[in-house]
Amino acid sequence: MVDRYQRVLRDLRISVTDRCNFRCRYCMPQEVFGPGFQFLERAELLSFEEIARLASVSAGLGVRKLRLTGGEPLLRRDLDRLIAMLASIEGIDDIALTTNGSLLAARAESLVAAGLSRVTVSLDALDDATFAQMNGVGASVDRVLAGIDAAAAAGLAPVKVNMVVKRGVNDDAVLDMASYFRERGHVLRFIEYMDVGNTNQWHTDEVVSAADLRSLIGARWPLEPLAPLYPGEVARRWRYADGSGEVGFIASVTEPFCGGCTRARVSADGQLYTCLFGAHGHDLRSLLRDGSDDSAVSSALARIWGLREDRYSELRAAASVAGPKVEMSYIGG
Ligand code: GTP
Ligand code: 5AD
Ligand code: SF4
Ligand code: SF4
Repeated sequence: MVDRYQRVLRDLRISVTDRCNFRCRYCMPQEVFGPGFQFLERAELLSFEEIARLASVSAGLGVRKLRLTGGEPLLRRDLDRLIAMLASIEGIDDIALTTNGSLLAARAESLVAAGLSRVTVSLDALDDATFAQMNGVGASVDRVLAGIDAAAAAGLAPVKVNMVVKRGVNDDAVLDMASYFRERGHVLRFIEYMDVGNTNQWHTDEVVSAADLRSLIGARWPLEPLAPLYPGEVARRWRYADGSGEVGFIASVTEPFCGGCTRARVSADGQLYTCLFGAHGHDLRSLLRDGSDDSAVSSALARIWGLREDRYSELRAAASVAGPKVEMSYIGG
C-alpha cells in the first residue's frame, strides 16, 4: 500500500486520551487548556475493542508498528488490557508507548507483562525550575527519572528520552541532559521545537537547530554518524566516539523527513490523520460503529492512504501551509 509519493504505511500511532496531567507550553498551554477546556467525553473515545479492531485491520494492510500516545496515555484506565489485546494481533511486532513518565514508575512492570516492547519518555530538563517552566504544572524531575529507571529495570532498556529544546528556556540544559543519559545507557533525542497545533505561539527564533545542538554536544564529546535503524526513521542517530552510547536529533523544522514518512495517526475519538500537521481527520469511528465489516474498514483505510500527499514539513516555508492544524495533545505527536 503506497501513497501518492510511494510511501508505505508502516506505523500506526494511536492516541488513547486527549487529557494530560502536564501543561507543556509547547503543547497544551494552560491559557487554552484550562479548567474550561472541553476534553472528549468517555462515549466519544474508541473502546479498546474498537482500537484493537482498527489495529488488526491495519496490520492486514502492512502496519507492523504501533505506538500508543495521548495526551498522557497512562491516564487511560486499564491500558495494560489494551496492550495485551494489541500484542496478540498477527503481524504487529512492535508496541511502543510515548509518555511523560510521571506515572510510569508504578506501572512499568505490568506494561511489560502485558506485552509492551518499548517506551519513550519525554523530559526537557534535569532541574525542577527549568522543567517546571516547560511542563507548566511544576511536575518533578525525580518522578520522571524514577519512571525511566523502573522502565529500564522492567526490561525496556535502553529507554528513549525525548527533549524538546526551546531557545532561552531549556537550551542551557542540553549538555547536562546529554551527560546524564550517556552515563546510563539511554538514548536521548533532541526534538526541534515545532509549530504543531495553533496554541503554542511558535516562532522560528525559539527553534534551536539540530545542527547547532550537534556542534554543541560534539564539541564536548565527539560524535560519529550512525545509519538509520529502519527506512524512514525520524531521528538522525549519532554515537559518542568514546563508546558511551548514542543520541538522536529530530529535525522536523530544519531537515524535514516527509520523504520517508510511513506514519498514520488516529485520535482517541477515531479520526485518522495522515500528517501530524493535518487540518482535519477522516472519521473511522463511524465506520467502526455502523456495522461495517472489516473489509469495509480496510478499504476506507487503503483509500485514504492511497490519496495521501502530505509533506507539511517540507512545505513549511511556503505560504500555502498557513491555516488551522490539529492539536498535538489530540493527535499524540
Ligand atoms: P521510534 O523510532 O520507533 O522509536 O519512534 P519515533 O522516534 O518515530 O517516535 P517518537 O514518538 O519518539 O517521536 C518523537 C517525536 O518526533 C514525536 O513526538 C514528534 O514530536 C516527532 N515526530 C515523530 N514522527 C513525526 C512525523 O512524522 N513528523 C514530524 N514532523 N514529527 C514527527
Ligand atoms: N514541538 C516539538 N515536540 C513536541 N512535542 C509536543 N509538542 C511539541 C512541539 N511543539 C513532543 C513532546 C513529546 C512528544 C509527544 O511530542 O515532548 O516527546
Ligand atoms: Fe502532555 Fe506530552 Fe503535551 Fe506535555 S507534550 S502537555 S506531557 S501530551
Ligand atoms: Fe509525515 Fe507530516 Fe511529519 Fe511530514 S510533516 S514527516 S508528512 S507527519
